[in-house]
Amino acid sequence: MLKITQEGPGFIVWDDFLSKENHRLVWNYIQSETLEFVHQKKWVKAFRLTDGEPLWGPPYLSDPYTPDIKSIVYPTKKGIDLFISELKNLAPHCEHIIGKQGQDWAYFFARAYIYPKGTGLSWHRDNENSAQGAFVYYAHQEWDPQWGGEFLISSYETQKLKYPESELYGGEKKYLGSHLDNTFEKETLLSSGIGTYIMPKPNRLIIITSGIIHCIKKVEEAAGNKVRASITGFFQDPAMLLKKSEN
Ligand SMILES: [Fe+2]
Repeated sequence: MLKITQEGPGFIVWDDFLSKENHRLVWNYIQSETLEFVHQKKWVKAFRLTDGEPLWGPPYLSDPYTPDIKSIVYPTKKGIDLFISELKNLAPHCEHIIGKQGQDWAYFFARAYIYPKGTGLSWHRDNENSAQGAFVYYAHQEWDPQWGGEFLISSYETQKLKYPESELYGGEKKYLGSHLDNTFEKETLLSSGIGTYIMPKPNRLIIITSGIIHCIKKVEEAAGNKVRASITGFFQDPAMLLKKSEN
């Protein structure tokens, strides 16, 4: 069983997650994958308009999931399989963070991301598709702390924040997101104003429980042509969300 490098409130970090050779093969996979700019088809509002434009690859599912007829399911015969297979082995040991497969989540998806210099992801909470937790694995081969790209995790208290609903024409009330108005998020983050930073150290895996507000700092100018390359995804069950909203 892989030794934990650091455990904090709602998250765990493992270093040397894959063997050196497999780390390299996952990096080679990202280089060979077809990537799109995240906003290629439409504005993906998880990214603020000031976040620059990272790139992503297609999501691959860890397990078959009937409602999803589009996504390719593991094994994919691509280098990302090396990562997915290790994460499938690890998941049952992280139930206190992400819950139990088959009960709290049905599958995880994994997709490649590239953050070039000038790109990041503002403070947010993962609240889509009934996500029980998220992970990030750093596939780039080298990193320098001067290059930025840190993963910041706010205080565990932010998990309790209730998202406000706004009224739409016709009377419907719903949560609109914080992409254009983050007043409520701002207040919660500033109430403690202290949290954790995790550097994107090569071959490092982080798993975080859902609900804690977090962000990715922009990759600095100093990174030049080096990129922050990761495999990221959620442990989720979108059908569970549908069931909840029907009740
Ligand atoms: Fe996130």
